[in-house]
Amino acid sequence: MKYSQIIGTGGYLPEKILTNFDLEKIMDTSHQWIVERTGIHQRHIAAANETALTMAEQAARAALSTANISPADIGMIIIATTTPEKIFPSTACLLQQRLGIAGCPAFDLNSIACAGFVYALSIADQFIRQGAINNALVIGSEVMSRIVDWNDRTTAVLFGDGAGAVLLSSTEKPGILSTHLHADGTHKDVLFLDNTMRKPTALDTELYMQMNGKQLFKLSVNILGQLFDETLAANHLQKSDIDWLVPHQANIRIIEAMAKKLDLPMDRVAITLNEQGNTSAASIPLALDKAIRDQRIKRGDTLMLEGFGGGLAWGSALIKY
Ligand SMILES: CC(C)(COP(=O)(O)OP(=O)(O)OC[C@H]1O[C@@H](n2cnc3c(N)ncnc32)[C@H](O)[C@@H]1OP(=O)(O)O)[C@@H](O)C(=O)NCCC(=O)NCCS
Repeated sequence: MKYSQIIGTGGYLPEKILTNFDLEKIMDTSHQWIVERTGIHQRHIAAANETALTMAEQAARAALSTANISPADIGMIIIATTTPEKIFPSTACLLQQRLGIAGCPAFDLNSIACAGFVYALSIADQFIRQGAINNALVIGSEVMSRIVDWNDRTTAVLFGDGAGAVLLSSTEKPGILSTHLHADGTHKDVLFLDNTMRKPTALDTELYMQMNGKQLFKLSVNILGQLFDETLAANHLQKSDIDWLVPHQANIRIIEAMAKKLDLPMDRVAITLNEQGNTSAASIPLALDKAIRDQRIKRGDTLMLEGFGGGLAWGSALIKY
């Protein structure tokens, strides 16, 4: 039986850091409010010449280098991003050109927002399990700073920019054990961004992401609890079998509630939220990369990944690392 194994990870964060204290100077907010309500202390902001593509390339090259494989060995590129380089061609096609590996399938998942990475991981996993490809590059890359309204303190303080990449490779021994994807379009108004391309005279509010934070908070805690039960049951595992939670980084209170659901202490949760804010589709691979690089996550550990966001869309991956 074939599995997908993570053989390399990489991350990229823009150099510029925007702290809560910096935000205090440009909007009516405070470091204390942001830390207490979200857990975020700072976020990285892309420079004018940085895009989802340039950051994805940095993360991809770091993952290739840790995996010690050549770009020519990649059989598929998927980039999860709500902030793509262009409407088309896909950011993945543009990255493929930069890596000089014409031929393999390359595409973006553009509208799955913060759940985009687990969706992308799941798709790549299906192709590897089928035996259609041997290696896949799965990336989350986001320039959230270009779609948040910097005049809206309820959203602007939450997000950051960055990219994370994972290289999956075909193996015979267990790697990704299962993935579980869901969506519920009845919650379409909880978090969305209009397509202003279709509106020549767009209102300011239509140019930026809109969010009902309170509703999203309640929905996410509820659906993620059920998602954990589903994921564990599908693998005949108990909570005690999970070594690490690698969550989407939206709010520390949501993450703490999720750790509690798994009976995991917080030192078994990969957290980057305090330093990076919510980087949407990039948050899970960035958290994974950090915990692997500083050797907290070790080979053989069992990891629960979870993501949720606009759609509503949500999903998990259970991984034997
Ligand atoms: C956004 C979020 C942090 C807000 O926290 P909250 O505890 O629900 O706070 P509320 O929205 O009730 O706001 C409480 C007060 O703080 C104010 N406030 C909002 N943002 C503020 C900010 N940045 N600084 C200071 N005050 C702020 C509100 O105006 C409100 O004031 P009021 O009581 O006078 O009306 C929280 O709801 C959240 O994280 N939700 C989930 C969001 C999420 O996951 N998004 C990404 C999904 S991928």
